[in-house]
Amino acid sequence: MDKDERAVRREDESEPDDALAPDDELEPANGIEPSTALELLREGELEIVGRLVDATNVTLYATVSCPAGPDRRALKAGCVYKPIRGERPLDDFPSGTLAFREVAAHTVSSRAGWGIAPPTVFRDGPLGPGMAQLWLEVDEDVDVVSMILTRDPSLRRMALFDAVVNNADRKGGHMLPVDGRVYGVDHGVTFSVDPKLRTVLWGWRGEQLTEDEVTLLEILRSDLASELGLELRELLSRREVAATERRVESLLRHGTFPLPDLGRPAIPWPPF
Ligand SMILES: Nc1ncnc2c1ncn2[C@@H]1O[C@H](COP(=O)(O)OP(=O)(O)O)[C@@H](O)[C@H]1O
Ligand SMILES: [Mg+2]
Repeated sequence: MDKDERAVRREDESEPDDALAPDDELEPANGIEPSTALELLREGELEIVGRLVDATNVTLYATVSCPAGPDRRALKAGCVYKPIRGERPLDDFPSGTLAFREVAAHTVSSRAGWGIAPPTVFRDGPLGPGMAQLWLEVDEDVDVVSMILTRDPSLRRMALFDAVVNNADRKGGHMLPVDGRVYGVDHGVTFSVDPKLRTVLWGWRGEQLTEDEVTLLEILRSDLASELGLELRELLSRREVAATERRVESLLRHGTFPLPDLGRPAIPWPPF
């Protein structure tokens, strides 16, 4: 999806057209180094452009910009801004916690070297504290549905990531093809202590983990017991971090991708 008239409704419809930042002022986000993007997202001035119309929460398209400094050039990029106060209350997740879960999912993805979630931070903004995530320009020519149905190997790591973070909402629209890879977004309903894996990526169910995947999970296990665990404790409850350790442990014990649990919905609705 593009951030054009289809996708974004300006907050104040009476604003003149030039309230939308012209694209040529924006940094091509796909090329920004993750560490630079994180700094820009944390420290940049955040300005709301409009609301994403197909979103379920108050999910805003915004820009973040930093003026030039002594050792850096001026930067401006698009971002998604989800203020906590715009989170839709859910029965099965404590209120006001989804933004933290999005940041925690990015932390796990980045520490494991998966790079699945775009750079994501927790910060204050015009509508209060929430999450800000780098906006990526999606490659409209890539057919994600056919990648899912043909078990495209590039999606296998996302299936493993979702099993680790217990993602309850991996639908087609939450998979963004960009520059030959696929990013995952909308990780607000992750890290529940209850098993909730709900995904369209069941193509690898029950399949043996590769040696590389086992090694990666072993590294993740020890990181969760030390630094990563401490980082996640800033974002999630103690029980949720412990449950994450147990999920990694269980993946290693079984040595396989999880199977759908027949007692609960395995696929998000709508799936795309
Ligand atoms: N970082 C991003 N870059 C580009 N597009 C995004 C990004 N995050 C979300 N989107 C697009 O916006 C839509 C709505 O965002 P999402 O995170 O799913 O919001 P909600 O929590 O309200 O469902 C997504 O389905 C996706 O198409
Ligand atoms: Mg969504």
